[in-house]
Amino acid sequence: MVRFAIVAGARPNFMKIAPILRQLDERDGVETALIHTGQHYDRNLSDVFFEELGIRKPDVSLGVGSGSHAQQTADVMVAIEKVLLESAERGEPFDRLIVVGDVNSTMAAAIAATKLHVPVAHVEAGLRSFDRTMPEEINRLVTDAISDLLLCSEPAGVENLLGEGHGESSVHLVGNVMIDTLLTQVERAKSQSTLKRLGLNPGEYGVVTLHRPSNVDEKNTLSGLLAVLTEISERMPLVFPVHPRTRARIESFGLASILESSSAVKLLDPQGYLDFLCLTSQARVIVTDSGGLQEESTALGVPCLTMRANTERPITCDGGTGTLIGSDAEALRANLEAVLEGDYKQGVCPELWDGKAATRIADVLLGTQ
Ligand code: UD1
Repeated sequence: MVRFAIVAGARPNFMKIAPILRQLDERDGVETALIHTGQHYDRNLSDVFFEELGIRKPDVSLGVGSGSHAQQTADVMVAIEKVLLESAERGEPFDRLIVVGDVNSTMAAAIAATKLHVPVAHVEAGLRSFDRTMPEEINRLVTDAISDLLLCSEPAGVENLLGEGHGESSVHLVGNVMIDTLLTQVERAKSQSTLKRLGLNPGEYGVVTLHRPSNVDEKNTLSGLLAVLTEISERMPLVFPVHPRTRARIESFGLASILESSSAVKLLDPQGYLDFLCLTSQARVIVTDSGGLQEESTALGVPCLTMRANTERPITCDGGTGTLIGSDAEALRANLEAVLEGDYKQGVCPELWDGKAATRIADVLLGTQ
């Protein structure tokens, strides 16, 4: 019997663990334990994803919640350590811990496990923005440095890891597991009544998400972006599901009035997986600073204006539908114009973003046990 612990903590983790858990649970001689750290705890950021993606209830819920980076990381480390020690004391030690993505829970779990000599596999390894002001970059660097199995979603990940001195035998290009979930769910998502409810027509609206400090933590930057979005909405309605962090900034900076000046910017609470995929898969354009949404846009063939100065997912811009805009309101306006004029580039879906990444991941995990 091989025992895997698989960790999820925040919204972007859930669509990645779903197909991996399913694959592992189908294999003989495998036992899995799902650990939810509780980094995200709002129903809309967590429970909805479990229900819609058919993820079983976590075997262990750590309930760490929010806090400063150090606090949150420390709380996850202490709680995971306890889980791993107790399982060993019961005579059921884990053979491996699996972490996905780049959130604080990912790094914290990897550190706790490695120190207890439980080997760690990192899914979505090797991505680098080369921007150490982003907390996710620190999480990626640390997690990869201490994981002994590095599973990459795109060739840049492999190159980065080999360049950092990782041995070829520990690095595997397996493709994008988040796209497994997207491909499984996209038709079901399109049949939701989301567009009708919001009075939108396929191909005629844009989707906006912003939550990174570089876009939302500074009043002038955020107000400049909101002003362009409001202006463009006169020609193309926009839906904007608002992350709790962004909502708090809009309120504290007193910027709600900019958005209220147009009824064509629809502010929504964070959406569940199916409603959101219903929106993105039929959008004319996506404006975002999310990591995952850059990839989903490329897989869906929808233009993606990436509100970041850099990206750790270069394949989405080189060949995909993404363009780096930074936090530049004028560049945002120019690119939205290009989309509206039909002048925006076409993209192609990368190799191995084919719905079979979880199968390859399970093969690697079991082949190396
Ligand atoms: C985290 C990830 C980020 C990811 C994002 C997706 C890190 C460093 N960041 O950022 O990479 O893109 O998730 O959503 O791990 N909050 C709630 N309800 C919740 C969770 C958080 O209201 O369920 C609020 C709290 O005020 C909290 C703040 O959001 O302090 C930030 O939450 P946190 O988990 O620290 O980071 P995110 O910004 O969500």
